[in-house]
Amino acid sequence: MPDLEISDGLVLFGGGGDLSLRMLFPSLAWLESEGLLPAKMPIVAAARSEMDDDAFRRMVRDALGKRAPDTVASGAADRLLARTTYVAVDVTQPEDLKRLGARLAELNIKRPLYYLSVSPSLYSAICQGLLAAGLTGDSARVVMEKPIGKDLASSNAINDQVQAAFSEDRIFRIDHYLGKETVQNLIALRFANTLFEPLWNNLTIDHVQITVAETQGVGERWPYYDEYGAMGDMVQNHMMQLLCLLAMEPPSDLQPDSVRNEKVKVLRSLRPIGRSEIERNVVRGQYVKGVIAGQQVTGYAEEKGASSDTETFVAIQAHIDNWRWAGVPFFLRTGKRLPERDTEIFIQFKPVPHSIFQGESRADMRPNQLLIRLQPEEDIVLNVMNQAPGLSLEGMRLESLPLSLSLTSKHKMRRRIAYERLIRDALHGVSTLFVRRDEVEKAWEWVDGVNDAVRRHGQAPRPYAAGTWGPAGAFALIEREGRAWHEN
Ligand code: BG6
Repeated sequence: MPDLEISDGLVLFGGGGDLSLRMLFPSLAWLESEGLLPAKMPIVAAARSEMDDDAFRRMVRDALGKRAPDTVASGAADRLLARTTYVAVDVTQPEDLKRLGARLAELNIKRPLYYLSVSPSLYSAICQGLLAAGLTGDSARVVMEKPIGKDLASSNAINDQVQAAFSEDRIFRIDHYLGKETVQNLIALRFANTLFEPLWNNLTIDHVQITVAETQGVGERWPYYDEYGAMGDMVQNHMMQLLCLLAMEPPSDLQPDSVRNEKVKVLRSLRPIGRSEIERNVVRGQYVKGVIAGQQVTGYAEEKGASSDTETFVAIQAHIDNWRWAGVPFFLRTGKRLPERDTEIFIQFKPVPHSIFQGESRADMRPNQLLIRLQPEEDIVLNVMNQAPGLSLEGMRLESLPLSLSLTSKHKMRRRIAYERLIRDALHGVSTLFVRRDEVEKAWEWVDGVNDAVRRHGQAPRPYAAGTWGPAGAFALIEREGRAWHEN
């Protein structure tokens, strides 16, 4: 059983950074407004700039005014800021860490949750610094953002260093996709209904598609992105996690290890893609200038100011080699500067084994589909066949009827951002929605294998105009298998 003691202080490294101001403080402010933060828990923001508490609070308040104005209006933002202090810390300086330790002692923080919202190149230094300063202990926890390494070897190096300071059950690796409401809904859909699970296999499912399409480009993030590409930035983490939840066997309960044991089995069963299979199974692309929503946008190479081999788009046909999924292709596709923002899991069921309908109805007949949409709107839609009303002499007319299974409109709730859930879970020590080390490793192993095969094959990314759905090869990849990408 995990130790579920609640953390009694949140220490935010990189507290003044972009992620912190855009996502973490707004999440904290919304949690505060609903009374969901541990009572009186202090928040200590730590970063390198010299700043006093008031200047830091003003900066956060400004950010909240833009990102979470309701919390400013309701007073929640001010309640949150009253808990928040700032310490200037250079983690490579033992003196600075001593100062941080003194602040934690002053605030009577005994069970800190350290949140590393900094460049991953600092993870090891911070953890080593905290260890040397005696600030880790058995009750401290640490949250790490992705990317953890840029391949298996570098991710192991980071994980080793972090584990030298914190035990695995105290390490919370964030994949913010796991905090999205619809992703959890996928777990509910699969395991809180008898309806779907008997059909969730190769007897009934024809194929699965996972699409994460973004309209935004890489822009100024290119120094980071150029090293990772779509494979390291999206596939290794977010898409692998979606795949795992979708394909895993039913866990026996929702305990962190029960779920993670099942997820890692999926990763272990992913069929490696070797050099000779690249042509048929992997398409890489890189956007060149084009038009999105009427706006002319530049290409990736211009953003970088040099040519590059990095893919900003990838489409993959993957297979999971186990009894449940044998023969079911999983088509994965993600890209920047695509025509729409669209994140979805699309499950195409097989056609009925024999159709009793003739004439036009036969043509209207469509196999069932389940669409799990994460973005731009969260929704779950089941397409079932239905008789179109009317008096037709030619027998029944069929039509496909989308049934929305979404509960958000029923509950009329604000759409939460993923970090609210994840911060709260980490404070409470609940790690079900965090990624265990072996998952990170297995995901890198598969992605490294694909990247390596791509290199050996010499496959360069194909250009695609911004505002299109990637290179033509991405359509060929799925059409060759007798399927087509789902269109909304
Ligand atoms: C991040 C990637 O992890 O996820 C970004 O680094 C990407 O490149 C982002 O844009 C997408 O997240 P979301 O929640 O907006 O789909």
